Parts: sequence; structure tokens; C-alpha cells
Amino acid sequence: MKRLGVNIDHVATLRNARGEKHPNPVFAAKFAKKSGADSITIHLREDRRHIRDIDAKQICAIKKLLINLEVSTNTSMINTALKIKPNYVCIVPENRKEITTEGGLNLKKNKKQLKIIIQKFKKKNIRTSLFINPSIEDIKISKQVGSDCVEIHTGKLANFIKSKKKFSKELIRIKKCSILGNKLGLEIHAGHGLDYKTTRMLSKIKEITEFNIGHFIIGESIFFGLSKVIKKFKKLIK
Ligand code: PXP
Repeated sequence: MKRLGVNIDHVATLRNARGEKHPNPVFAAKFAKKSGADSITIHLREDRRHIRDIDAKQICAIKKLLINLEVSTNTSMINTALKIKPNYVCIVPENRKEITTEGGLNLKKNKKQLKIIIQKFKKKNIRTSLFINPSIEDIKISKQVGSDCVEIHTGKLANFIKSKKKFSKELIRIKKCSILGNKLGLEIHAGHGLDYKTTRMLSKIKEITEFNIGHFIIGESIFFGLSKVIKKFKKLIK
């Protein structure tokens, strides 16, 4: 059974645009769960451009709701995550000027640091995931540094498909990484830039057990409502 993680960062983006309290990300987290989301993803960015510390704390305190907190490797972000204690953590690269996460982590360069960070989370019983590019080498390093899961960056595939470019090589790359990761005992997740079409395509890869989707879900909800959109995704990945 594949799971759907709903990223609600953009509920906070909308709230922050007005500088008031509506729409409330805490309500969005509860509502998404009620609509069928298996977990809620929030990205606490270093510049706090959408989700803020208070949102993360309140969302992680909601009972019976699985929270996947995305953070960078910055020491202060790791310490904040350890204090907030989400169920899951996904370590992502972060660049201040980027509009959204642009690619996977540089695992080769940060191997030692990642190993230490993962151990810290494991000691607190927090499931760890690394956001990686679809590369065989990165799958192997993810295993070596002790991660529980990897989230494969699907942004490149999504962009190829949206711009009607050839995408089969990228899809094969994702499939091969998923198969190897699964063989090595890693849980395989996928995320970034996904919509109905790309999610349907990737859901055929049986090794992928979780999708984390944000921008498209929130955007589509403007027209069709959050509940309907979540239900449609759930049906599609079944
Ligand atoms: N997974 C990770 C690790 C991300 O950083 C993001 C974007 O915050 C997503 C998934 C969701 O991407 P999108 O908003 O494009 O669906």
C-alpha cells in the first residue's frame, strides 16, 4: 500500500502573504489527515519563508498525525528538529536564493556529517530520510550513512514531462535506484514537482512506497478543494 504525504508549506505561504492568521497550517494538517493523507510534510526553511517554528511545534504536537519535517543540515536546524521531535525527518539541501529545493543532497561531500546527524535522530526514534538525486552512488551512500529511507528527487522527470521533452532515461534512472535501494533495505519515497500524470507513472514502480506532494495539491485545491484532490491522489497511488 503506497502512502501519500501532503506538503502544506504553501498554506503558510498564503497565510504569510497577508501577515494574519488565515489560512491556518495547523487546521490544514488536521484537515488533510481527515481527507486521507497518510502523513503531513512541512519544510522548516532557514529563512522561515513559509512554515515557522510555532507552526512546526503545534503541528508536531497534534496527536495521531504522522509528521515529516524537512530540514537542512545546518546545525541550528538540526537542533530545532531534535527539539520539535517530529515522527519523521527528511534532510534536504538548502540554498537561500532558490524558489524551491532544486536538487538532492551532495552525499559524497557530506557523508561524515550526515552519518552523525542520522545517529542523533535515530537516538530519538525519528525515522530519517535523505532527499537524493536518482543516482546509484547516492543510494549506496544513503545506506552507508545509516538512513532509513531515501526520497528520490523527481523534479527533473516532472519538468521533462511538463515541457514535453524525452523523459524515459530519467524514469529508468528512478526505477533502477528504487530497485537497488529496496534491495539494500531502504524505504523508497518520491517527491518534487509531482502532479497527477507523474504520480500515476511513478506509482507503477512497486518499490516506491511514499509520495510527498505539495505545490500541485495546494494549487489544484483552489479549484476543486483539498479533500477532493487528496482523495484523487490516494485513489491514483493505490
Ligand atoms: N519533497 C521534498 C524533499 C521537498 O523539498 C519538496 C518541496 O518542499 C517536496 C517534496 C514537495 O514538492 P512539490 O511542492 O513540488 O510537490
